Amino acid sequence: MITNTLPHNVSKSISKKQFSKYALPEYLAKHYWWAYLSPTGVKFFDRPFMVNRILWGQYHKIAQDAVNLFSSENELVNTKQKVAGVSCAYGEFFPKLALNNNVEQLFLFDIAPIQLSQMQKKIPAQVLTSKCKLFLSNAEQISLANQSVDSSILFFLLHELPVQARANVLAETIRITKSGGRIIIADYAANRDKHFFNRFKIFNSVFEKLEPFLANFWHCDLNAELLEQAKCQGRKITMISERYYFSRFYRLLEFKVE
Ligand SMILES: C[S@@+](CC[C@H](N)C(=O)[O-])C[C@H]1O[C@@H](n2cnc3c(N)ncnc32)[C@H](O)[C@@H]1O
Repeated sequence: MITNTLPHNVSKSISKKQFSKYALPEYLAKHYWWAYLSPTGVKFFDRPFMVNRILWGQYHKIAQDAVNLFSSENELVNTKQKVAGVSCAYGEFFPKLALNNNVEQLFLFDIAPIQLSQMQKKIPAQVLTSKCKLFLSNAEQISLANQSVDSSILFFLLHELPVQARANVLAETIRITKSGGRIIIADYAANRDKHFFNRFKIFNSVFEKLEPFLANFWHCDLNAELLEQAKCQGRKITMISERYYFSRFYRLLEFKVE
């Protein structure tokens, strides 16, 4: 069931007609409508092999490694996890995560109704009813209580956000994550001008044309931004694992929040 943006665990069904009154962020409507808002775009892109092509063959590995962070071998997975997916993602990542036995509850939200409908189709009905809560919410103002989840996941969202939206999303992700919990981030790695794609202007230009906020993300200090946002909330954040893919073009990071 897709639910309205209401505080905490309160939920209310809404019809698709009502969706129109929810404003979409300008960056999404202006730069990413073709990928996330157009029904043709959603149909075209939301296929694991397509996402795998876009991520240069690294998608399955990154998605599987991220799911593996929920295995019982991870010392931070000592209780059944309440997990927040900070916006939906194409492909099989969230459906796989929903099936993981250590995931007790999966809160999945997005600002685009079409993305929620799409996600609803991908998660088996029984799993959806028993442990998933899908709702419409802006990641810059998440409709979940403070410290309500054990793990929060940002799966290739940050590079698509303008600077201020990125700061807001990081702040909100920290806010909803419990003390002793984790934030998991899969995204592009920092650009150190060493990767083949970063060394040639033509490749950089293509990436930056399709992803207008990637250049800033490539050069930001993500650790410092997380530390700053945590500090504003009187919290602490420490990186506990990092993995790199495709000669450090992508990364999967795990942070502990206190
Ligand atoms: C998380 S990124 C995922 C990108 C990546 N290409 C993938 O699918 O694996 C794209 C999603 O973020 C959503 N989104 C973007 N900005 C958002 C915001 N401020 N709040 C909630 N969802 C947002 C979009 O609607 C879209 O569903």
